Amino acid sequence: MHFHSSVLLFCCFIRPIFGGLSRPIERNLAPRSYKKTCVVKASGSNATDDAPAIRQAFKKCGHGGTVAFKNTTYYVNTVLNITGLKDCEIDLKGTLLWGTDIQYWLNHSIPVGYQNQSTAFVLGGDNVHFNGHGYGTLNGNGPVWYHFIHGQSNYPGRPHQITFNGLTNSVVEGLIFLQSQMWTMSMIHSHNNLLENIYVNNTGMDGSTSSNTDGADTMFSSKIHFNKWIVVNGDDSISMKANSTDISITNCTFYNGLGIAIGSIGQYKGNFETIERVSADNIRYEKTLHAAYFKTWTGEQVGYPPNGGGGGLGYASNLTFTNLHGNGFRGAPISISQCTTFSGASGNCTSSKFELENIKYSKLTGTSTTSQVASLQCSGVKPCHDITITDVDLTINSTTTEASSYLCGNVEDPHGWNCTGPVCVGSSATGGC
Ligand SMILES: *[C@@H]1O[C@H](CO)[C@@H](O)[C@H](O)[C@H]1NC(C)=O
Ligand SMILES: *[C@@H]1O[C@H](CO)[C@@H](O)[C@H](O)[C@H]1NC(C)=O
Ligand SMILES: *[C@@H]1O[C@H](CO)[C@@H](O)[C@H](O)[C@H]1NC(C)=O
Ligand SMILES: *[C@@H]1O[C@H](CO)[C@@H](O)[C@H](O)[C@H]1NC(C)=O
Ligand SMILES: *[C@@H]1O[C@H](CO)[C@@H](O)[C@H](O)[C@H]1NC(C)=O
Ligand SMILES: *[C@@H]1O[C@H](CO)[C@@H](O)[C@H](O)[C@H]1NC(C)=O
Ligand SMILES: *[C@@H]1O[C@H](CO)[C@@H](O)[C@H](O)[C@H]1NC(C)=O
Ligand SMILES: *[C@@H]1O[C@H](CO)[C@@H](O)[C@H](O)[C@H]1NC(C)=O
Ligand SMILES: *[C@@H]1O[C@H](CO)[C@@H](O)[C@H](O)[C@H]1NC(C)=O
Ligand SMILES: *[C@@H]1O[C@H](CO)[C@@H](O)[C@H](O)[C@H]1NC(C)=O
Ligand SMILES: *[C@@H]1O[C@H](CO)[C@@H](O)[C@H](O)[C@H]1NC(C)=O
Ligand SMILES: *[C@@H]1O[C@H](CO)[C@@H](O)[C@H](O)[C@H]1NC(C)=O
Repeated sequence: MHFHSSVLLFCCFIRPIFGGLSRPIERNLAPRSYKKTCVVKASGSNATDDAPAIRQAFKKCGHGGTVAFKNTTYYVNTVLNITGLKDCEIDLKGTLLWGTDIQYWLNHSIPVGYQNQSTAFVLGGDNVHFNGHGYGTLNGNGPVWYHFIHGQSNYPGRPHQITFNGLTNSVVEGLIFLQSQMWTMSMIHSHNNLLENIYVNNTGMDGSTSSNTDGADTMFSSKIHFNKWIVVNGDDSISMKANSTDISITNCTFYNGLGIAIGSIGQYKGNFETIERVSADNIRYEKTLHAAYFKTWTGEQVGYPPNGGGGGLGYASNLTFTNLHGNGFRGAPISISQCTTFSGASGNCTSSKFELENIKYSKLTGTSTTSQVASLQCSGVKPCHDITITDVDLTINSTTTEASSYLCGNVEDPHGWNCTGPVCVGSSATGGC
């Protein structure tokens, strides 16, 4: 069976990579003694839903206890809504495999609370330690979804694999996420968490990557540290959305996707949202489109989220990206597009009321397939300002020619670089035209 071979593959592939690295740099967990342990019994067949046994285990051991999953497959055919945990250890040595009854999920996925998104699994609580030991796996059975949605990116009810909602002072580590139904992970109303040694691979069985299988998305959350992630996908590697503050992303490798995304944001007319103090350091990119890119909605509202919207207010400020090494960027590693509008429609690229400022990129090296270092299409009504770009050493393809074009529109106060030409003006969900 495909599933067993992938477990073997990933356990053996992933261990040497993580094994050589030092211990985590932040540990928020308060000391505690675990009184109870609940070992979840697996039914052994997808004809019997394991979700009731999982719910029962959290009910018994979710406060001051351990919920342990054995090295076996758990068939999760119904939603998990596990909130209010306290001082809880989650020990995952097996696989949670999501059921494939699409009609069930479309009817029952749990609302996330933003962008009309929904999820299969809500997990929340304080002082939680979710440990997969480098091989515990969540498998979304994604290919059935990739086939079902026929390339549509947002499909109402298509669930995220997991949503951390109200998760505080916690550590999530050593987990593998495969073939997520949609976004792999969303994090909302969550604070002071470390997520470390996480491997995400949303490649389908035919080797293709599906749209909107982001690695992680944050909203209304602060003090989140993503350390030592590997993300293989076709969309945002890690994305910061509304009110994401004090987020750090370190020591990660991103394959194929779009790189780090700031946004989309400014989607809700009249709402004031910010993204502040995001930093990324020591990131490797293998054939991603960008290194770190920004996307905001235009100033006019067209339709409603998730696919429509616009007219939002706010700013992204004090963001730093350093030590970015790319192998074959597919587009401008540094990109800003303020043109996001209803899918398919052509928007007004100069009307966004969302301001981008105080953004620093440094030590950008490697190879690219284009001559563009930066493509910055900023709003006319709220021009971008104080963008610093220094220490760029990017060569084109396998030549010695340096990438040297910096294209811009409505950028004020550049530091360390000069604009070399006008940017192309047009809508695209992935930055640039
Ligand atoms: C899990 O079980 C499988 C087969 O039962 C075994 O091959 C594998 O080594 C086990 N993995 C771990 C990490 O114990
Ligand atoms: C159980 O697995 C079979 C075979 O893979 C599949 O056809 C069926 O839809 C699955 N059932 C559920 C509830 O996921
Ligand atoms: C989903 O909802 C529709 C419409 O309410 C209903 O007809 C269908 O039986 C439901 N399916 C499942 C699997 O719950
Ligand atoms: C999930 O659990 C929380 C807390 O008990 C509750 O407020 C919420 O309504 C539940 N959501 C669903 C969809 O059951
Ligand atoms: C939001 O999701 C609900 C249920 O998942 C769906 O019925 C509704 O059409 C969606 N709204 C939009 C604007 O997509
Ligand atoms: C991602 O998964 C695919 C399919 O299993 C595999 O071929 C590929 O090597 C994986 N990529 C990485 C970088 O681990
Ligand atoms: C990861 O990144 C941080 C911050 O840049 C750094 O201090 C740390 O040594 C790095 N390495 C590991 C293995 O965490
Ligand atoms: C988002 O942050 C802004 C600025 O701090 C604040 O005004 C707004 O109320 C926040 N929105 C929500 C929904 O928390
Ligand atoms: C930017 O954030 C850093 C911490 O991440 C802080 O020390 C500094 O004061 C902030 N600068 C501004 C201009 O807000
Ligand atoms: C685009 O927006 C700008 C700023 O709001 C406005 O001045 C301009 O007329 C708009 N262009 C079109 C074609 O609507
Ligand atoms: C780099 O190589 C790719 C693939 O062969 C090609 O499409 C692209 O045009 C090249 N880039 C430049 C700037 O020549
Ligand atoms: C940008 O242009 C100004 C004026 O021509 C020049 O003094 C400055 O050295 C240039 N900066 C860089 C980084 O090329």
